[in-house]
Amino acid sequence: MENNLKTFFKPKSIAVVGASKNSTKIGHAALKNILISDYECNLYPINLKEDEILGLKCYKKLGDVPDKIDLVLVSVPAIKVPQIIKECKQKNVENVIIISSGFSEIGNNELENEIKKIVKKSKMRILGPNTMGYKNASDSLDASFVFGVPRKGNLALISQSGALGIGMIYLANNEFVGVSKIIGVGNKLDIDDDDLIDYFSTDPETKVIGLYIEGVKDGRAFMNSIKVCDKPVLVVKAGRSSAGARATESHTGSMAGSDKIYSAAIKQAGGIRCRDLVELFDMARALAGQPPAMGNRIGIITNGGGLGILLTDACEENGLKIPKLSPKTYKKIDRILPEIIKPNNPVDIVGDAGFYRYEACTKALLEDPKIDGIIVASVHGGYARPREFTGAILKMIRQRKLHEEYKKPILGTWVGGKEFEDLVYDLKSAGVPIYPSSWRTARSMFGLYLEGERIKRNG
Ligand code: ACO
Repeated sequence: MENNLKTFFKPKSIAVVGASKNSTKIGHAALKNILISDYECNLYPINLKEDEILGLKCYKKLGDVPDKIDLVLVSVPAIKVPQIIKECKQKNVENVIIISSGFSEIGNNELENEIKKIVKKSKMRILGPNTMGYKNASDSLDASFVFGVPRKGNLALISQSGALGIGMIYLANNEFVGVSKIIGVGNKLDIDDDDLIDYFSTDPETKVIGLYIEGVKDGRAFMNSIKVCDKPVLVVKAGRSSAGARATESHTGSMAGSDKIYSAAIKQAGGIRCRDLVELFDMARALAGQPPAMGNRIGIITNGGGLGILLTDACEENGLKIPKLSPKTYKKIDRILPEIIKPNNPVDIVGDAGFYRYEACTKALLEDPKIDGIIVASVHGGYARPREFTGAILKMIRQRKLHEEYKKPILGTWVGGKEFEDLVYDLKSAGVPIYPSSWRTARSMFGLYLEGERIKRNG
């Protein structure tokens, strides 16, 4: 039976080959990260000369360990790795993470092929080489050598770049986007993006999958995994420009391929291509916490006319529509608004809008069958009331009943300074999708719309 990565992400026993007492070495950091994880497993440092490291009994070689080993992390110089893989094979190890660099990313394909030959016809799965490993936040296991503790959540992140993968942990934390797993795929000798998409598609802790890729080895398998995955797949594909494509070759040895072909293929498979990492996190936050938009008709509520127009433009540029209000909704909103203004879409609820206008107008749009998603916006104009705006959003988004009844997404956006930011901080930490730019808000709504389209296509 094929190894389906279960023991890779949830190993009962782990060995670190190249574990060291020297705290500046990667093998020391890898061992320590596993040791301090709030995760129960047997842990075995392997070192040629030590008897004990970090209080753990040390073994000279894998064969000496008196236990079955589910996962081995390898942190010895590249030239020694094939021998370690042979030992893993002899010990029937199921999964290996090769942290070591010095393989195809520097043109040393021969060494990588040597490993491929050793593992051929075995069911051993290999991550890397040239990888940071992974952090399984759902189960609190850190099988990497790098710092950074991700906030627990529902986004599975796959990164072809190690450093960017680490940066993404901090960015996600900063954005209050929780992560289920984050994994660096390195040179993708064996475990590839498609394997991980397949795994995360059935992982109960993962609701959204996000990838940073520079190139894929098996385009057909990659697209097929996205196609059969019943969760949103967000893809940041680097190397869009010809200079960027050149840079991917020298970074991970990847061929960037035709950007247009990538875009078309990702779209056809049902994935969502994001322009950058911030957009990936924006969309992930919306997709993890909101229902998809089952159509492209968006209602906008704003206390500032200018912001309403900016949102309208950004939505229309992304293929979303801002339709006129139906007569029924017009009447409802007309009763809510002050005399001086008539309802429209965007619904201008006027600069002094308080809690009631925000909440009542949003409810009116939720009830309108010709509106598929709602954006609620606030400008911190001189006499605006940001606290009432954020309070209304928090209340509406937290009301599960509201979501279950109408099944429409609500996104927030704002324009203001520090005092507004403090309030938005509370919203973000509560998982509310709120953005400091009309463009980012519209793009996130577009992501929800594409997810709605995917669901409709798949019946
Ligand atoms: N069995 C057991 N122990 C061994 C063996 C062996 N066959 N061979 C060596 N060791 C021991 C060493 O004696 C040493 O222990 P010591 O400190 O007690 O002497 C330990 O294993 C490590 O071996 P070193 O030869 O000291 O190797 P070092 O730690 O300097 O480097 C490393 C190894 C980290 C894998 C390095 O070769 C490398 O590839 N570095 C780059 C890693 C990297 O960046 N990967 C990409 C990550 S993605 C990103 O960018 C974040």
